[in-house]
Amino acid sequence: MNESMQKALKDVMTLGVICTQWGDTGKGKLIDYFSQWADIVARGTGGANAGHTICVNGETYIFHLLPSGILHTEKINIIGNGVVLDPHIVLEEVGILAKADYTCDNLKIAYNAKLVLPQHLVMDRAKDIGKGRIGTTGRGIGPAYTDHCARFGLIVNDMLNPEIFKAKLKRNLKDKVKLLREFPIEKIKEIMDHDHLENGKFFDEKEIFNVEAITEHYLKLGQELKRFITDTDKLLREALCKKHILLEGAQGTLLSIDYGSYPYVTSSDSTIQNLPKGVGLSTADVDLVYNIVKALYMTRVGEGPFPTEFGGTKSAEYCGQSGITAETEKKEYPEVTLDPDGDEFMFGVNVRRAGSEYGATTGRPRRNGWLDLPLLRHSLQVAGKHGQTIALTKIDVLDKCPTIKVCTSYKYTGPDYNMGGTTLKKGDTLETAILLSEILEHSEPIYQEFPGWMTDITKVKEFNELPDKLKTIIKFIEKEAKTSVGMVSVGPDREQTILT
Ligand code: IMP
Repeated sequence: MNESMQKALKDVMTLGVICTQWGDTGKGKLIDYFSQWADIVARGTGGANAGHTICVNGETYIFHLLPSGILHTEKINIIGNGVVLDPHIVLEEVGILAKADYTCDNLKIAYNAKLVLPQHLVMDRAKDIGKGRIGTTGRGIGPAYTDHCARFGLIVNDMLNPEIFKAKLKRNLKDKVKLLREFPIEKIKEIMDHDHLENGKFFDEKEIFNVEAITEHYLKLGQELKRFITDTDKLLREALCKKHILLEGAQGTLLSIDYGSYPYVTSSDSTIQNLPKGVGLSTADVDLVYNIVKALYMTRVGEGPFPTEFGGTKSAEYCGQSGITAETEKKEYPEVTLDPDGDEFMFGVNVRRAGSEYGATTGRPRRNGWLDLPLLRHSLQVAGKHGQTIALTKIDVLDKCPTIKVCTSYKYTGPDYNMGGTTLKKGDTLETAILLSEILEHSEPIYQEFPGWMTDITKVKEFNELPDKLKTIIKFIEKEAKTSVGMVSVGPDREQTILT
């Protein structure tokens, strides 16, 4: 642990890292970085919809479920009770690491984490089609959390208790079968004929799901996972104030089911209010939070309003196509400079390329746009006293950009909207975003422009050595969002991190 980390984390025993945007802001890197300090790293929300990228010694790993501290073999890594866990994916990731000689003996899984089963993947994929789609990751996240709230979900430990597993599974399948009967059976068969669903092994022509096949398969997976399963809530409560605990967020505040751009959100509360709960702790137990802000652009995947999007609806439609595009193969688009005065859509394409903004879970090109302070103000307000420190990531991506724009407020352009006792009218200014899709999609950004710094900052080690033009923008963000910058990340490696 270097001196600046020691200084920054003096008196801190429990540290949280969360994202203030729509995810994909570099949490993986930060968690890996702070793992040097931590004794325990714990995830408490989301599931395999997350994709955390870590670069160590020239190797890049993407984890969907394993906590991002897993490569620090002497640190305990926990998947907490609030996570929805797909056993296949954990085992797949453990398998990948085994090939690189990591045993994962440092992994612990909450016995009461929620289980993602084949029916959840099927429901997610069958329902997220056509108009009104969310653009989910298709990993069964929403349906698994829905079952938990509907009080018939299964937990990880059920896989270790055959009778209980089978009884709960049967109960759980009832409503799904009813709903799926509305779909053509060939469609369901096609969805289930997928490698994540054991290529049709769980399909039954008559009953839709083959209970015996699912039970047998998951009991076997349970045996493989057994060595990791334990009471992690207890472990963490006992470790509180004695060990350094690092809480790893997933997704971001704008994707939170409670505080995000509903309904274009994920199905868990991905804010700091829920993260400690997902590992058996409380927000009062958290001493410091780094709220990540990707800057000076931001991204989102999936559907939903995005006021500052480069190229507006053209970008949204283009990025809605799934999979790797001509862009990454560098066929369709010629290399052009990062010039915001040119074609806005093309500018977005170039920022995406410069920042490698392609979904870690789905491979989709991420939609992108300028940093949006009304949204940041919202996220920091949700964080409350935990919103005092932000971490700016991927700053170096816009090193070659001659002009930087920051959205400072919105002009409301929609029809009259009743907001309790007041009416929001066309032309009204909004300093803080209102996280309702009906309003966000009529929120027109007002920008402040800054000259770009136009120098390579990837080797800068101290905050004071950053170009003055960049420091001016950083100070502006701090003042406007009433927060302070505690970290600046200038590249993907651990070393490219500046603590202020
Ligand atoms: P779900 O979480 O798979 O249900 O997807 C709901 C929405 O959240 C979709 O728009 C997803 O693309 C988005 N989403 C889920 N996880 C992430 C993430 O880790 N980063 C960015 N977007 C995500």
